[in-house]
Amino acid sequence: MNLMITGGAGFIGANLVLHWLRHQPDDLVVNFDALTYAGNLGNLEDVKDLPNYRFFHGDLRNALEISKAFSEHNIEAVIHLAAESHVDRSIHVPADFIETNVTGTFNLLETAREFWGDELSKHRILHVSTDEVYGSLGSSGKFLESTPYAPNSPYSSSKAASDHLVRAWHHTYGMNVVTTNCSNNYGPYQFPEKLLPLLINNCTQNLPIPVYGDGKNIRDWLFVEDHCEALDCVFHEGDTGETYNIGGCNEWSNIDIVRYLCRELDKELNRSGADSCENLITFVKDRPGHDRRYAIDAGKIKNTLNWTPRHTFEEGLTKTIRWYIDHQDWVSNITTGTYRDYYKHQYG
Ligand code: NAD
Ligand code: DAU
Repeated sequence: MNLMITGGAGFIGANLVLHWLRHQPDDLVVNFDALTYAGNLGNLEDVKDLPNYRFFHGDLRNALEISKAFSEHNIEAVIHLAAESHVDRSIHVPADFIETNVTGTFNLLETAREFWGDELSKHRILHVSTDEVYGSLGSSGKFLESTPYAPNSPYSSSKAASDHLVRAWHHTYGMNVVTTNCSNNYGPYQFPEKLLPLLINNCTQNLPIPVYGDGKNIRDWLFVEDHCEALDCVFHEGDTGETYNIGGCNEWSNIDIVRYLCRELDKELNRSGADSCENLITFVKDRPGHDRRYAIDAGKIKNTLNWTPRHTFEEGLTKTIRWYIDHQDWVSNITTGTYRDYYKHQYG
């Protein structure tokens, strides 16, 4: 099978490309990526010369480039991850999110429809989305696949719009689609604008750890390799037109996860007392429209496809911390001028 993975140079995409090449060696993987600030081909250095891997430098905002990738590689299926993915950036520059997440998904669906023609139902598109489309929970309950959409940020509303497009292309044109809505991922190759890698990077550099508001917002954390296994499973076994929630059953308030990580980093970096990473914690102005709590009910994917995460939180976190400490060059290569401009704009 010739599989296109969009956004394969980003955090989850790169982990998925590596997973696919390891577990599905008979497939050709075509990584379609625009290489925005979040895309980094360095993530795929180890596989770049494999005969069953190709990189296509293309932008979803340009339908002709998608079309060219389909024809050049005779694309038979797609896993669609490319997106603008950071909530804080969506608050500063919402237009980028509409163009890539909404128009880009539309361009992809239309290109696939044209290219696959009468054989549309034989070719699958797995659309990778987020739990943020469901909005914010109170202190109890979890998101089910049937939870009504109530997105609150420019990011989540653009992802919600893309989910609706995918759903409509299935119902109207018979496109063979599946959608996943996943909770917060963590792990290697995550850009240090997101909470966990930002924290690790700031601790190694002795910089303040910014915690928004009262730090009591809750997220449900999943190790990225477990997410990739879930995507593999849904792609191969999910029912057409269905959606599957993916989560770690692993809720943490931000302040608790930050303190936990600081303690783990103290051990790794031999810090204690006045030098402890915990002393870097700094409460800052809250994110506008900050969702209070996310939690996934992953019962459907567990009961129908037999997927559960393989890593405990402790295992995933230890792997993650070790990876960032061993790959400080990777971090310094991407935290250059543009990152510093963003950081200054966001945190002052
Ligand atoms: P990321 O920001 O790390 O990577 C996004 C990738 O998409 C980058 O390689 C970037 O270059 C590429 N890209 C951006 N705009 C593009 C365009 N116009 N054309 C082609 N490529 C483009 O994102 P991520 O955290 O890896 O998230 C991947 C997907 O998973 C997204 O769709 C996101 O909504 C979803 N998701 C993420 C999480 C999470 O915790 N990170 C959780 C659930 C769902
Ligand atoms: O839930 C899935 C979503 O998880 C994905 O769809 C998004 O692509 C991904 O970015 C992530 O969104 P969040 O907004 O939850 O992740 P982020 O790492 O930005 O923030 C996690 C929590 O930490 C959130 O409550 C905001 C808070 N935070 C974040 C940053 C960057 C801080 O307190 N300080 C910070 O500096």
